[in-house]
Amino acid sequence: MSAALLQVSGLRVNFGHIEAVKGIDLELHEGQITTLVGANGAGKSTTLLALSGLVKKAAGRVMLGSMDLSKMAPHKIVANGVVQVAEGRATLTTLTVQENLELGAYARRDKGNRAADLAHIYSLFPVLKDRANGLAGNLSGGEQQMLAIGRALMAKPRVLMLDEPSMGLAPLIVQDIFRILRDINQAGLTIFLVEQNVRQALKIADRAYVLETGSIVLSGTGRELLVNPKVQEAYLGS
Ligand SMILES: Nc1ncnc2c1ncn2[C@@H]1O[C@H](COP(=O)(O)OP(=O)(O)OP(=O)(O)O)[C@@H](O)[C@H]1O
Ligand SMILES: [Mg+2]
Repeated sequence: MSAALLQVSGLRVNFGHIEAVKGIDLELHEGQITTLVGANGAGKSTTLLALSGLVKKAAGRVMLGSMDLSKMAPHKIVANGVVQVAEGRATLTTLTVQENLELGAYARRDKGNRAADLAHIYSLFPVLKDRANGLAGNLSGGEQQMLAIGRALMAKPRVLMLDEPSMGLAPLIVQDIFRILRDINQAGLTIFLVEQNVRQALKIADRAYVLETGSIVLSGTGRELLVNPKVQEAYLGS
């Protein structure tokens, strides 16, 4: 059993009188894909935003190894290696693909070898290499999602967090995105994946949590939850 790299305990987030996240515990283990699945409005995005320091926590603790991220500013959380892929693919459309990728390295402490890092991203996403000098705004939806992931990877994360990377993409592109996530995980990266595409997410997840109206109601390995009758009935349409 691997040790927990990121440990969340008692996390609560309120928006006014709405209790969006009601005291959840979860852990991400090093080198694993962990997924958080649930319906519309369950609190998935809010959980990610709280881990990134972008919404205020009403309570709870977030530990990265022995480092307490609970009250850390968002840019420091990124600098410490917990990096969320930009939501809605928010690429900078008037910059080139390469400029977008270079911006991803901006928050890094160790500046490393950017040329080698870029080459690595281009090997993961050959389509981005072909479009390196083109404007990000001219990419397709799937390519923009790849760019957003590539940009996050340029920050050299220890934990990569994604909020519904499959949203709005054609099934074949979704397959591509999930395959790439599996590849970068197999290269050692710890991934936290939030998805409404429950079947795909459970298929690639080592560890999975089901969130319902702000509470975790089920957890297990991806495989366990795929065959769980409650999950099948509520989320897999069978
Ligand atoms: N900024 C906000 N202000 C007020 N309420 C919010 C805010 N963001 C989210 N909420 C509410 O918090 C709850 C959880 O929302 P959240 O976006 O985290 O759900 P989600 O699981 O990501 O849903 P989806 O699958 O639709 O993305 C919902 O009731 C939502 O309306
Ligand atoms: Mg959401």
